[in-house]
Amino acid sequence: MKIAIVGTGYVGLVTGTCFAEVGLEVHCIDVNKEKIDNLNSGKIPIYEPGLEEMVLKNAQTGRLLFHSDLTSCLNEVEVVFIAVGTPPGEDGSADLHYVLDVARTVGANMQKYLLIVTKSTVPVGTAAKVRQAVQDELGKRNVHLEFDVASNPEFLKEGAAVRDFMYPERVVLGVESEKAENILRRLYRPFLLNNFPVIFMDVPSAEMTKYAANAMLATRISFMNDLANLCEIVGADINMVRRGMGTDSRIGSKFLYAGCGYGGSCFPKDVKALIKTARDNGYSMRLIEAVEEVNEHQKGILFRKLSARFKGDLKGKTIALWGLSFKPETDDMREAPALILIEQLVAAGVTIRAFDPVAMEEAQKHLAVPVTYCKDKYEAAIDADALMLVTEWADFRMPSWAVVKKALKYPLVIDGRNLYDKNELADNGLEYIGIGRK
Ligand SMILES: NC(=O)c1ccc[n+]([C@@H]2O[C@H](COP(=O)([O-])OP(=O)(O)OC[C@H]3O[C@@H](n4cnc5c(N)ncnc54)[C@H](O)[C@@H]3O)[C@@H](O)[C@H]2O)c1
Repeated sequence: MKIAIVGTGYVGLVTGTCFAEVGLEVHCIDVNKEKIDNLNSGKIPIYEPGLEEMVLKNAQTGRLLFHSDLTSCLNEVEVVFIAVGTPPGEDGSADLHYVLDVARTVGANMQKYLLIVTKSTVPVGTAAKVRQAVQDELGKRNVHLEFDVASNPEFLKEGAAVRDFMYPERVVLGVESEKAENILRRLYRPFLLNNFPVIFMDVPSAEMTKYAANAMLATRISFMNDLANLCEIVGADINMVRRGMGTDSRIGSKFLYAGCGYGGSCFPKDVKALIKTARDNGYSMRLIEAVEEVNEHQKGILFRKLSARFKGDLKGKTIALWGLSFKPETDDMREAPALILIEQLVAAGVTIRAFDPVAMEEAQKHLAVPVTYCKDKYEAAIDADALMLVTEWADFRMPSWAVVKKALKYPLVIDGRNLYDKNELADNGLEYIGIGRK
């Protein structure tokens, strides 16, 4: 089976590579020619564990092709996946212009039946817009061709994207016709054979499922952050509370970590888009609006804690930052809490020494302010007035506190991920500030 995946970003590249891995012939298409050239010369544009080997292997077999010309393969393929970005527009709604551009290109050039599948995260009603855009182009050409539109939202997690795609907890497929369902059953046969849950439903429900899942996860994070702030006030410890509540099987222990707010390319924009979808339909999602409000406040927590500790006098201080990416195992800096923190620190007159295992190159593209990028975590701590943990990379889990203490000018550690043990730090002469800790 031959397919095209339009958009070769985190989702498109992982999807295309994994489909090639299970035996399909995949055209990965992107308008970014530099990205395509790099991929064709074996350079992978993102950091994702396991991806590089899989791309190189499948490209070598000829099953995984990278190019920029969607029109050239429309006659060959049975399915076109749309996996382009859907960034937030000014009003918070998902900007669909990349998705609809692809739909128009398909409509303007298709010569035979195609199944068009939205894999990008798109609001309810988008499949209908895609259908209309394709139909309009066919109308302009005065051509009548049969086609279907389906929805296949992606649930992969950056940092574990290949594993999530190859061993999915579920595959959600929204279809409008039996023909589309049969094609998708064939496409996902390797996954069906392995008994992964493949759930067919109507298209609007599939589109909504993706937002529901992300909004639920964001809700858990904001809930824990809100609770952590109260714990601090009343003298409880959020880590203890988390363990106590997470063992309840109705609640579960995942996604219950207090920290410095959620970021990344998905949660912030998807929460915004869900709020906007509700408003556009005359409804207000009060719970999700509060989730967003709590998160906005939480993104400033590390700065507020530092500022309070130094009584507002931050000018001339040097701060070491461990971690820049929005979460470990990725170089993605989109909406990373570190970006806001760095801007606040620089505005307050702070000098920043940062280290991240993979995201420093990417961070430089997002930051206009001066940051000293260091070769390792200990170098970042040299002569700093405080060390702040921002991203919980494995490399930061068990540092030598003796080395940290020696490097720091002032023995203060602010733990934005509640990783460390206050007593262990105290034994090493370090003062500890966490989030919601006793
Ligand atoms: N990143 C994630 O973890 C994740 C997870 C699940 C779902 N999603 C959703 O998947 C979608 C893609 O996300 P991403 O992180 O892969 O985005 P991305 O920005 O990494 O990649 C999008 C790619 O699409 C390309 N593109 C834009 N217009 C194009 C066109 N007309 N033709 C060909 N290529 C075009 C861009 O050049 C870019 O390379 C979004 O809707 C996102 O919400 C992302």
